[in-house]
Amino acid sequence: MDKNTIDKIKFPDIIEQKKLRDAKRTFTIKRGGENKMKRRILTGDRPTGPLHLGHYVGSLENRIKFQDEYDCFFIIADYQVLTDHIKETAKTEKYIREIVLDYLSVGIDPEKSTIFIQSLIPEIAELTMYFSMIVTLARLQRNPTVKKEVRTAKISEISYGFFGYPISQAADILSVRADLIPVGEDQLAHIEQTREIARTFNRLFGKTFPVPEGLVGRVPRLVGLDGQKMSKSQNNAIFLSDSPKTVQRKINIAITDPARIHPTDIGHPNICNIFQYYKTFNPEECKEIEDNCKKGKIGCVACKKKLSEVINKFLKPIREKRRYYDGQEKLIKTILETGNEKTQREAKKTIKLAREAMHFDYKKLL
Ligand code: TRP
Repeated sequence: MDKNTIDKIKFPDIIEQKKLRDAKRTFTIKRGGENKMKRRILTGDRPTGPLHLGHYVGSLENRIKFQDEYDCFFIIADYQVLTDHIKETAKTEKYIREIVLDYLSVGIDPEKSTIFIQSLIPEIAELTMYFSMIVTLARLQRNPTVKKEVRTAKISEISYGFFGYPISQAADILSVRADLIPVGEDQLAHIEQTREIARTFNRLFGKTFPVPEGLVGRVPRLVGLDGQKMSKSQNNAIFLSDSPKTVQRKINIAITDPARIHPTDIGHPNICNIFQYYKTFNPEECKEIEDNCKKGKIGCVACKKKLSEVINKFLKPIREKRRYYDGQEKLIKTILETGNEKTQREAKKTIKLAREAMHFDYKKLL
């Protein structure tokens, strides 16, 4: 089967548009001895805490799945720490390391994929400056994700950089001219804004950037253990790095169907957080649990115990990989250095293209 046929099976909805868009792409890879075009992925995370199960099903799973087909760039977005965690920058370095370990432990392969730190690629800041001139203030104020974050941020005054971070995120994505962005549902607003920026730039200065697509994972929004959005900062998340005991403790105190007091009461799995986790992490047993819960045949305590086992089984290979990488500081350093270098090389090419397009190359003058 040739590569195009494989692509068609895996991504029927996006492939046709992409083929057109990428026709001019010159990036090639060796595949079976031949040079073939390879599209790019860019996505990433803010180093404000360790990654959790929501990240896994929302985005990490897709990253792992696509790392052979795509040339992948994973950004650790430290500029974004400054938006609403500006007083916690002392922890950033520690969290960057944690996120690298999270990536490696879920199966992101540093031989195939590129992991890099946003602020070490100054070209991203340069691109942010250019893009900031083609986005209106009104458009920024309409971004629903930023609006929500502004409401929940525990800060009294919102900075210009906070409001503008979707522009910086567009620069992250377009700095390597990425085509596909695997993300959680909350990030789609930023992808939409990135697409608009790419189109506007192309309209003003000629075709320079691809118009990238977002790709949401099989569970776009995994709820936290309290029924709210799972979040690093809300104390309602199961982290990929949690120990078996911690997982058990967190699940034990999770909120279930509030109408159930006795184990024999009739349950309502459709409104129960724990049941959402079964659906995601144990689809095989899901039906049985649902029936038993509805009939009052399994109580919440037993159900939670079983879920802890399911989650711990899921996390076991991830913990093992983490143990392998944890402590290999030299290797982590090399992975980041190599990733930063490769990304910067690509970002420099992008800046050259963008500056030429804007007639900022000043060839006659200099
Ligand atoms: N805003 C993203 C988050 O909070 C992180 C991020 C930064 C990102 N730059 C990106 C995601 C570029 C996708 C593409 O999770």
